Amino acid sequence: MPLFTHPRPEFPPPISYGPLQLTSRFHLSPLAGYTNLSFRRIVRQIGGIGLATTDLVSADAIVYENPKTLKMIETHPEDRPFAVQIFGRDAKMMIDAAQILVTRGVDSIDINMGCPVARIAGGGSGAGMMCNADDTVALVQQIVEAVSIPVSVKMRLGWDSTQLSAPTFAREFEKIGVVAIAIHGRTRAQGFSGSVDLGGIRKVAEATESIPVIGNGDVRTVADAEKMLSETGCDGVSIGRGALANPWIFKQLSQWEETGEWSSPGSFNDRLELLLRQFSYMQDQWGPEGAIVRFRKMSHWYLKSMRVKPALRHHFQQAKTVEEFNAALAVIVEAGPVGENRTGLLPDMHIPVPSGPIEHW
Ligand SMILES: Cc1cc2nc3c(=O)[nH]c(=O)nc-3n(C[C@H](O)[C@H](O)[C@H](O)COP(=O)(O)O)c2cc1C
Repeated sequence: MPLFTHPRPEFPPPISYGPLQLTSRFHLSPLAGYTNLSFRRIVRQIGGIGLATTDLVSADAIVYENPKTLKMIETHPEDRPFAVQIFGRDAKMMIDAAQILVTRGVDSIDINMGCPVARIAGGGSGAGMMCNADDTVALVQQIVEAVSIPVSVKMRLGWDSTQLSAPTFAREFEKIGVVAIAIHGRTRAQGFSGSVDLGGIRKVAEATESIPVIGNGDVRTVADAEKMLSETGCDGVSIGRGALANPWIFKQLSQWEETGEWSSPGSFNDRLELLLRQFSYMQDQWGPEGAIVRFRKMSHWYLKSMRVKPALRHHFQQAKTVEEFNAALAVIVEAGPVGENRTGLLPDMHIPVPSGPIEHW
């Protein structure tokens, strides 16, 4: 297996979320529709990951025991430590949801203060929480005080470039007992456009005294993570889309932290094996037809990174039954990767920003 190398910064001490000691500073960032149990199991099996969080789930839906939401917070012994990300705006609902999560054995709770989608932010949750500092700090404090497990917050730099409130929030949150801050280096107004503002993340890292700050945004490679760590002074890095393109990224980063070197990501054959394994976990949870529908988004990332011909990818996406799924996959296996071999290093996949208005991601 080829080894790659890149200079290492002086790493900060290992991260803990309050009493919860993490084995790696490299985390999976929540991605609605992707960071479900099947994918979390896959990246944890590969290794090198500190914390993996569920997609954002509605606090109200947890309290009302919405069956789909309860499935979204299902876990597995290998899915540890297990963090659930909640959003909401009503204090009672948020507290009740947090307490329910404690009874379900969740290890830590993350509060979503970054979601820019109008349906969520417009209602005052997600990034909308950044618009009303006093109420938000009071709400988060009530949640922290109501549960015995660590509570973290994920946010953006601010609502827009005129209100870069993340450092102020981070300072206030540390005072009231929030255990960690994950910060996506863009504003709500930016959506996913432009590049991540590492200077903005640095201000958040400088605003806190001792809790870990996790830098997030556009990290795809070891070199990106190195830049994030050394230019922002953050304690850890969370990776979203980069992990869909390369589920080996956490393992590579941990190898790099330990030795300065890391091994290749998976080949066509390795990714095929991963795809099948993830699909089988999805079937365990959702049954065959439910798994096929839910797996479509994810298979796009697998098949693109495997350099599968567009027409074959398209055909695969049309599968409605397990027979059709297997038949389409057999054609893909037969064809192999375009211009590459089945066991070698594949070129990096282009990582798209969420398409269309951010309302749709
Ligand atoms: C499809 C998609 C879904 C997302 N869902 C969530 C979510 O549920 N909760 C959250 O806090 N952030 C969510 N995000 C934001 C990511 O966690 C992350 O902050 C952002 O993608 C930047 O990191 P990246 O460049 O490593 O992907 C989502 C992003 C995308 C692209």
